Amino acid sequence: MKVALASDHGGIHIRQEIAKLLEELNIEYVDFGCDCETSVDYPDYALPVAEKVASGEFDRGILICGTGIGMSIAANKVKGIRCALCHDTFSAKATRAHNDTNMLAMGERVIGPGLAREIASIWLTGEFEGGRHEGRIGKITEYENKHL
Ligand code: RB5
Repeated sequence: MKVALASDHGGIHIRQEIAKLLEELNIEYVDFGCDCETSVDYPDYALPVAEKVASGEFDRGILICGTGIGMSIAANKVKGIRCALCHDTFSAKATRAHNDTNMLAMGERVIGPGLAREIASIWLTGEFEGGRHEGRIGKITEYENKHL
C-alpha cells in the first residue's frame, strides 16, 4: 500500500504523528507538506493529493487540517474519492467496512495525537466488507460517471 499524506498549517503535528505511524507499520508514503509555519489554503493540499489517489498513483490518502472538514470537502470533489472525516475509532472501522473509503481526514484542533494514530491505524488495516455495500458505492460511482 502506498499512502499520500498532507496537511495545512492547522494539522502539522498530527501529520508528523501519522508519518511516524506509517513508518512503524512499514507502509510506504509520501509527505506532501505543508512545510510552512504561516497560513496556507487547505484545497491547495487536498485537491492534488486526492487526484493522486483517484489516478491510482497512491492507494490511499490521509489529510489533516484544523477541523478535517475543509480537507474532506475538497477531497470529495475529486471523482473517485471517498474521503471520510473521522474523529472516533468506530467510524474509522465502519467507513472502511461499509464505504471502502480511500481517503481519511482528521482535525488537529478536534482530537489529540494518540487518538489520531489509533484512528489512522484502524482505517489503514480495515477491510471492505463488500456485499450489500458494493451496490451502494456503485450508485455513487454511477452518479459520478453521469454528472462529473
Ligand atoms: C485553518 O485556519 C482552518 O480553517 C483549516 O485548518 C480547516 O480547519 C478548515 O476546514
